[in-house]
Amino acid sequence: MSHRSESGFEFAPVYGPLDGFDADAKLGEPGQFPYTRGVYPTMYTQRPWTMRQYAGFGTAAESNQRYHQLIDHGTMGLSVAFDLPTQMGYDSDAPIAHGEVGKVGVAIDSIDDMRVLFDKIPLDQVSTSMTINAPGSVLLLLYQLVAEEQGVSGDKLTGTIQNDVLKEYIARGTYIYPPKESLRLISDIFAYCHAELPRWNTISISGYHMAEAGATPAQEIAFTLANGIEYVRAAVASGLDVDEFAPRLSFFFVARTTLLEEVAKFRAARRIWARVMREEFGARNPKSLMLRFHTQTAGVQLTAQQPEVNLVRVAIQGLAAVLGGTQSLHTNSYDEAIALPTEKAARLALRTQQVLAYETDVTATVDPFAGSYVVESLTDEVEEAAVALMEQVEEYGGAVAAIEKGYQKQEIERSAYRIAQEIDSVERVVVGMNKFKITDEEPYEPLRVDPAIEAQQVARLATLRATRDQTAVDEALTALKKAAQGNDNCLHPMKQALKARATVGEVCNTLREVWGIYIPADTF
Ligand code: 3HC
Repeated sequence: MSHRSESGFEFAPVYGPLDGFDADAKLGEPGQFPYTRGVYPTMYTQRPWTMRQYAGFGTAAESNQRYHQLIDHGTMGLSVAFDLPTQMGYDSDAPIAHGEVGKVGVAIDSIDDMRVLFDKIPLDQVSTSMTINAPGSVLLLLYQLVAEEQGVSGDKLTGTIQNDVLKEYIARGTYIYPPKESLRLISDIFAYCHAELPRWNTISISGYHMAEAGATPAQEIAFTLANGIEYVRAAVASGLDVDEFAPRLSFFFVARTTLLEEVAKFRAARRIWARVMREEFGARNPKSLMLRFHTQTAGVQLTAQQPEVNLVRVAIQGLAAVLGGTQSLHTNSYDEAIALPTEKAARLALRTQQVLAYETDVTATVDPFAGSYVVESLTDEVEEAAVALMEQVEEYGGAVAAIEKGYQKQEIERSAYRIAQEIDSVERVVVGMNKFKITDEEPYEPLRVDPAIEAQQVARLATLRATRDQTAVDEALTALKKAAQGNDNCLHPMKQALKARATVGEVCNTLREVWGIYIPADTF
């Protein structure tokens, strides 16, 4: 029987030593170039990865309650999910937001909501990730403003904004402005954070969503690293020194149940990035070469049928991330294929990480798979396939040019189609779904978001608009418009506007007026 890996490599039934394997060049020491064995010399022997569960729904008050629960249960970092209107830069009272307010995440319209979201959470002690892309700068500044109200200065803040618009064009869809303007805003964020928020991770360059859309492991890292290269090029072209911003670039990948190839993927990604940063961009600071990443277990591999089986899948996926050297991890809740996680399911997901960290022995030693015949062989294979795909992207003229031609999307869709066919034909077994099925499933009571939330948010906005100093808002938005038309960093006037209680939608609309919106080319 033949076994093909997710990237399409043929597995050998037995692996032996690799011909001419140069351990010094390929592996190095942990915490040293090319970082195959991990970004820190001691990895989890000194500190486990950050357990960071993605959460947020409904109003800021409800989400704040969930964050307090997660912290009580032992989570180590926060990860904020925003609703779709916030992710698209619209207020809750915009007609386009109707029906979506508070659905897939929390609704944040202004500093008033942000203050409630982080109520009684000391921002100098927690690191917070925010899954926000096109309006990343807006939410980051709101976070900084709330921290300032708590008496916490920018140099104490740690966290991440996703801020990865290129993958939105490829796979996720919450883009606003065209690529050129998006890259300019991202370079503004890099420069602003270097000066004001030096410990903030300014971007989370993400392969996760491409993987969920069907990308193979090799495609996932290739297209992600190619996007990374595009951001670095844009920032360097805007006049920044690579070592000023590269230490704060971060990444985000999926962990699938195919554990061996996933471990190889993470190791290959670190090796490729270190080489690119050193050779193409001349980075000198070792931190600029280190690919630090967050991992989420593969939501797409979870099943609505026999959902408890997902607990087992997630444990294996989480293990793959840990053996691959992740810095931060979200383990999915077993009910995530059905609805928003219930509190119990969210707790079990976190407990899965705690079992991995505190009951197994995988944290006792760094990079346990180093020297494994199969994993070293797969690491080379994933690396080679990813580099070939990155060269394809270069042939198009880089990530943006390839996106505009629909290249990455087409490649990913081809893989997704192959997977769908394999599941249909049961060549690919999905336990409980296309094999080992049962007919008498227990009913499941999902968590539902209260539809009254939209009316509450709309009322809050009406109060906000009636009670703020409108002249201050108008002046600040005019200053933002001027910065967007010219070359000044947009984040300074944006912060003034948000402080004067301008809304997320008003700030994004101001930029829409100047920059327009992205309309994808119809490639299919
Ligand atoms: N030795 C020495 N130092 C160590 C160490 C070790 N073994 N382990 C950790 N440390 C230090 C680090 O150097 C760091 O210190 P610094 O800030 O001074 O550099 C500190 O301890 C914290 O460690 P990490 O930076 O490794 O871990 P963090 O958790 O702080 O950061 C990250 C991890 C990947 C860099 C960061 O970007 C991050 O947290 N990302 C999370 C992204 C996320 O949660 N995304 C959610 C997406 S959900 C989504 O997209 C939704 C949907 O559509 C799927």
